[in-house]
Amino acid sequence: MNFKSILIKDTSKKKKFWKTERTFEDFLRNRFKQPAKISLKGVFKKHSKNQQTFDSFKFFIVGSYFGYHKVNSREVKYFDLTTAVLKSYVPENSSSSYGFTLIRYSTQSKDFVMENKAAFEKWWSRLKLFCVQTDFSASYELASQVGKGNFATVHKVKSKKDGKYYAAKVIAVEGLTKSMKLRQAVRTELAVNRKMRFPTILKYFEVYEDEQKIYMIFELLEGGELFDRVLKRKRYSEREAAIVMKQLLEALQFLEEKGIVHRDLKLENILLVSEEDDCLIRVADFGLATFLEMLDPKVRCGTPGYVAPEIIAGEMYDCRSDMFAAGAVLYILLSGCTPFPGKTFEEIMSRNRKCSPKFNSPYWANVSFEAIDFVVKMMTADHRKRLSPKEALESPWMKKMLEATRLPSRYNLEHHNSIEYLLVVMNNYLKIIGRRRQ
Ligand SMILES: Nc1ncnc2c1ncn2[C@@H]1O[C@H](COP(=O)(O)OP(=O)(O)O)[C@@H](O)[C@H]1O
Ligand SMILES: [Mg+2]
Repeated sequence: MNFKSILIKDTSKKKKFWKTERTFEDFLRNRFKQPAKISLKGVFKKHSKNQQTFDSFKFFIVGSYFGYHKVNSREVKYFDLTTAVLKSYVPENSSSSYGFTLIRYSTQSKDFVMENKAAFEKWWSRLKLFCVQTDFSASYELASQVGKGNFATVHKVKSKKDGKYYAAKVIAVEGLTKSMKLRQAVRTELAVNRKMRFPTILKYFEVYEDEQKIYMIFELLEGGELFDRVLKRKRYSEREAAIVMKQLLEALQFLEEKGIVHRDLKLENILLVSEEDDCLIRVADFGLATFLEMLDPKVRCGTPGYVAPEIIAGEMYDCRSDMFAAGAVLYILLSGCTPFPGKTFEEIMSRNRKCSPKFNSPYWANVSFEAIDFVVKMMTADHRKRLSPKEALESPWMKKMLEATRLPSRYNLEHHNSIEYLLVVMNNYLKIIGRRRQ
């Protein structure tokens, strides 16, 4: 069995399927900076090609690593699932078994079988979070197109498994085979999506690849882009804008903790959950996102009108540049105009570079001084003086707007069932305890 995936970067010279560590403890110590836990373990069979037999081993998943314990030895064998293709496998002469195949380096494959359907589904649903799958059309039916960006088309799709609708971001493989840069960008988009689970960030599920296309599967949102909603409404009230900002800033706070920079925040990449609600949002399109540790300041990206001045200047930048874009989003929500207007690309870029947004009448006549002050602090040209997500969330304007009347629960993270969020809460709680002790 073989499959050459362009989503998986293959730089390894030693093309050995399994890596080896002397003990399980060595594996944990060498692979993880922080204590890591086993997320799944169980006994099932692995096909041995040499002996043509199926032998039982104890398997585990820790982080994105899949491995097993050798028999009669403390040694473990393992590899990173994000470098593997996952396919289903039907073992010959055995109607009752459930199997899967993992492929690495395009041609090396290993088969695994389990007797029990429930165990198989548990393993499959974990494996697919990290691996690339190949049989999109066996899993989903394409319905209508719901969006189009610079690089991708987005379709509504129906899962053949659970009958529910999802969104598939479809990217043509053809363009990627010719460009290393684009290939790397899609790989990073995937890696970033796999690392995020947060209530106000578009939820990623799994990825498929075949000879023609890549399909990233996300939750389907029915409300369209914030861009179209603002056009329809002309502008948002201060309170409504603050509700949107709360969700956006909470997402940015989470991204900062994860060391992820979005780099293309704008109204088109903020999606509304439903037609009825003008304020319930999800941050989407991590197509230009990157991890801070991989960030190259020479790479300038974003959309004119939203780009932080330090990016335009080619200086070092970080998560604070997303705060600038979020400030531009708020500017548009409150006034219905763009902060750096212009008829041509050059005109917009020149205003964006100078970075002194105007707050003229009639657009700003009915907006409070505190709101304008908040926009100015978010769009401060000097990124060292720009508000952090936490400072912004605690700003007098946000507090005043959100405290005026009780916020409906759907905008409150407390009501989201998210482990990531619980971790944020616990972290903050520990910080508070720490402060009290001092
Ligand atoms: N999960 C989704 N549900 C509904 N519409 C979506 C979803 N994801 C994207 N879209 C629509 O498709 C457009 C393009 O998707 P996006 O991820 O921004 O692609 P690109 O990287 O090409 O800009 C979005 O602006 C939005 O209108
Ligand atoms: Mg987009």
